[in-house]
Amino acid sequence: MKIHATDEDVYILAIESSCDETAAAVVKNGRQVLSNVISSQIDLHTLYGGVVPEIASRKHIEKINPVIETALKDAEMTLNDITAVAVTYGPGLVGALLVGVAEAKAIAYAAKKPLVGVHHIEGHISANFIEHPDLEPPFVCLVVSGGHTHLVVVKDYGEFEILGRTRDDAAGEAFDKVARAVGLGYPGGPKIDKTAREGNKKAIHFPRAKVDGSPYDFSFSGLKSAVLNYINHAQMTSEEIAVPDLAASFQYAVVDVLVSHTVQAAKELGYPNVAMAGGVASNSELRAEMKKACKKAGLQFYYPSPIFCTDNAAMIGAAAYYEYINGARSGWDLNAVPYLKLGER
Ligand code: KG4
Ligand code: ZN
Repeated sequence: MKIHATDEDVYILAIESSCDETAAAVVKNGRQVLSNVISSQIDLHTLYGGVVPEIASRKHIEKINPVIETALKDAEMTLNDITAVAVTYGPGLVGALLVGVAEAKAIAYAAKKPLVGVHHIEGHISANFIEHPDLEPPFVCLVVSGGHTHLVVVKDYGEFEILGRTRDDAAGEAFDKVARAVGLGYPGGPKIDKTAREGNKKAIHFPRAKVDGSPYDFSFSGLKSAVLNYINHAQMTSEEIAVPDLAASFQYAVVDVLVSHTVQAAKELGYPNVAMAGGVASNSELRAEMKKACKKAGLQFYYPSPIFCTDNAAMIGAAAYYEYINGARSGWDLNAVPYLKLGER
């Protein structure tokens, strides 16, 4: 993809509502975040042990206008100063996505601004550009969130080759399920991360699944079953479970596979730069182990701050900038696409 540089600054008003975060941001020239407002619904969904789609949509409707107003105010801008309006249109929960898409269309139409639909995962990957001005494609990126686990080559801005993906559960999903099984609650990732700090990661050996013939694919359902079996067995024999040891050992099993696949891909394919994205990318063990392994392999490792790992709109603004300057424009018929594939339009 050719980048058509322009002398004029590009200000993107970005909107994200694909899951349980209502978010808006203003991003200048793809890498400078002028505002980043996130209204999380986590407390509400915690009551039910997971995201309830109907509640998510209703909350988005309630929050989206104030969140956008705050994003513009924090950036000291009005809609007149904005170059284009960007929005996540997939993948995600259809009712949740629709709120953002309808809002973005209405604003863009009323303000006579171009509209740019953005892929949620392209957003997560682009979060790496915000704090790393030196990072440019190509690079290998591990995308690990609640719904996705992908190993991707970012060949150019907006151009991706998927090397591997999970065959069953996403990494974040595995964290959430194991956390629930040991009574740590929702969302599981941060709770396991915290509890694991007090445990021994070598206390229990859990399996590292390999997918035959697909060295870059992942599978976490076997690991999840092994953890559940371990818990059942302990309960049946009235043994006490050391939750910190279990959390640390499970986390280490996930991290081990994520790190080894990523580093192997970068080395085998000859990419010197490695990045990481998505909610699970804020996991402290994953960050530490990836840093160590990349250093050992002579690879440069990039990762976003936690605030840009979880769902946010700044990452959508970063992705939208590169789409926008390459001429991508969405029509007024832009619709939510819950199962949108990466690289598809
Ligand atoms: O990217 P994200 O905010 O939303 C999706 O697009 O899915 O990711 C949410 C996922 C959840 O499964 C959550 O448990 C996990 O990211 N997560 C973590 C951590 N923080 C969030 N997993 C492991 N360790 C963490 N520190
Ligand atoms: Zn996400």
